[in-house]
Amino acid sequence: MSRRRAAVLATSVALLLVAPVHPYLAVPPTRGSQGARTARCASAGAPDPVSRRVLLGNFVVPCLAGAALLPSAAGAEVKVGSVSWPPAAGAGVPPAKARGAAAPADVEAAAEKVRAGVREIVAGDPKKCASILRVAFHDAIARDTVTGEGGANGSIRFELERRENYGVGKALALLEGVHAASGLSWGDTIAIAGSEAVTAAGGPRVPVATGRVDADRGDPIKLKEPVGSCREATVPGGGRDCRGQADATIPSAGLDSDGLRNFFYRLGFDDEELVALMGGHTLGRWTSLLGVPKECLKDLNSKWERCLPYGERLPFVAEDPDAFTNSYFKWLLKWNRREITNGDVHFIPTDVVLVVDDAFRAHVEAFAADQPRFFVAWARAYTRLVSLGAPPPRA
Ligand code: HEM
Repeated sequence: MSRRRAAVLATSVALLLVAPVHPYLAVPPTRGSQGARTARCASAGAPDPVSRRVLLGNFVVPCLAGAALLPSAAGAEVKVGSVSWPPAAGAGVPPAKARGAAAPADVEAAAEKVRAGVREIVAGDPKKCASILRVAFHDAIARDTVTGEGGANGSIRFELERRENYGVGKALALLEGVHAASGLSWGDTIAIAGSEAVTAAGGPRVPVATGRVDADRGDPIKLKEPVGSCREATVPGGGRDCRGQADATIPSAGLDSDGLRNFFYRLGFDDEELVALMGGHTLGRWTSLLGVPKECLKDLNSKWERCLPYGERLPFVAEDPDAFTNSYFKWLLKWNRREITNGDVHFIPTDVVLVVDDAFRAHVEAFAADQPRFFVAWARAYTRLVSLGAPPPRA
């Protein structure tokens, strides 16, 4: 066994032993066990979202050990039903037409420039599909529906120093050229680029309307009015358990099923769309603490920028992490049935919530059994995502 595998295994075993008291670790491994409806990786307190994210490398390893035209082929354009605006939960995909903002005369040609540019960027390095999709997610999702601030508005340009956006700057820089060449807003460029990154990775082609208006500052980090509340922790050590509360504009990896619903419902997503959108983790990797020097681990919160670049990048799903398929859902079910070996998957807590919450799990099972069904739901969810805070399409 290599030294690295031995280290991973040792960490897994050690952390499994402390799982019941370790924040985030008490994920019920099988359906029907404790907390099936409100799935949770138990926490004795509520670390701030950033430290949660940064520390994932430690918590998650043990979790691991352990239309209506269906797209028939990858890259097929997905058309789903008729349109209402703003789209109600579960409604069809709005058509790809211009929104309110000023745009180049030939919007379709400008959008195609972005798509062609993205194809060129990822051709030499398929890992970039994941990075570009993450930019689109982080740009659009940061929305406060109470104040009406945020959404798909290119504000990510001003948010790169935030720890939640670790690594996003590099991917955004890839898009500088296509943004300049297209003449579209940053919001449009990023939304279209995310769609094309998925297509280039073998996923469906989701049409994206243009006309997003760019922000001139970062979106709020915290929600003005948190949704859901903290409760007394039931694990040894006590404290407050805030995994059911959405209080930030970027979701924390420590949210339980209530927290995920509180976070996504307020934005208009329903369960099926929420689960489909999380299928974005069929692509890509996250930064673990494997390889991070010991001295960094002592005080990671203040040294994260310097230390995280040492962290080994682990794929959510090791089986082709650069292909957009329904494998994420298949592997979630395998994880839940304990049919995995070390290194097959590296899920974060919010991934495994999907398979231990009964209602979420029904969608996981449906998507695992039927990739075209996932692609259609993905198209609807992605369209909703990149419509957040955007002006409605022009009539
Ligand atoms: C509760 C919701 C979510 C949480 C907590 C979460 C958290 C994370 C974290 C911690 C990483 C690793 C970042 C790094 O260390 O480099 C990551 C990566 C990624 N996320 Fe998410 N995420 C969520 C939802 C989503 C959604 C809905 C999408 C797609 C629409 C998405 C797309 C991605 C992609 C593609 C990567 C890989 C990036 C790469 O390999 O460069 N995530 N996410």
